[in-house]
Amino acid sequence: MNDLRNELLELAADVRAVAEAATFRGAVHELDPVAVPVPTPKVAPAVPSAWAEVVQEARRVATGADGLAAVRADLGDCQRCGLCEGRKNIVFGVGTAEADLVIVGEGPGHDEDLTGEPFVGAAGQMLDKMLEKVLGLQRSQVYILNVVKCRPPGNRNPTPDEMAACMPFMERQLLASRPKLVLVLGSVALKALLGTTAGIMKSRGMWHEWSGIPVMPTFHPAYLLRNPDDKRKTMDDLLQLRARYDQMGGRRFG
Ligand code: URA
Repeated sequence: MNDLRNELLELAADVRAVAEAATFRGAVHELDPVAVPVPTPKVAPAVPSAWAEVVQEARRVATGADGLAAVRADLGDCQRCGLCEGRKNIVFGVGTAEADLVIVGEGPGHDEDLTGEPFVGAAGQMLDKMLEKVLGLQRSQVYILNVVKCRPPGNRNPTPDEMAACMPFMERQLLASRPKLVLVLGSVALKALLGTTAGIMKSRGMWHEWSGIPVMPTFHPAYLLRNPDDKRKTMDDLLQLRARYDQMGGRRFG
């Protein structure tokens, strides 16, 4: 009888202890919600595609030689428009990534397509003379690029679609090299870069702006080979460019 009584008393004590503990936990939770354990948020590890985007963005904003190399790498063996079909070489750009002056032409011709370097034919020799005689610069001291990187067949003008496919690369080349000034040659490059409807006759000799960078449009050297009388006007445009280049601390290396 005593055993049974003791067992009942022990059982009652256990029940009371469990009930008290439950009441205590409930009271704590009610009074202090912070005490309720909050699961630690789990951060998902970066997935490869997210990393790829980060890498791509870092490459996009890289400047100088690294930036230009990244643009060239992204251009790859470009098949973005039909010009790839007839090209021998992609003509990306030439000169120094440190240039204070970037020169923008239209697109490669026969000689450029063969060599992979912009402005190496007759128009290129004229450009070299303009640079040396009027600006006191060698081609190695500037950076030269074209709106389209592949030769349009028969040296025709690039179509709007061809230009649109190539424009992001030209823009990124400019952003990577961050020059003090841009010289734009001829109406095709002028329209592509500035989106202006005014032709080169009206726009040349006046300062424009692309992404905060002063831009001087002038005649294309190939045009000057056919129209030598306009060399005088080109000289005036380049003298303006030279004055601003010097004023802005543009460098003549070496
Ligand atoms: N004309 C251009 O516009 N670019 C070249 O590279 C050569 C000729």
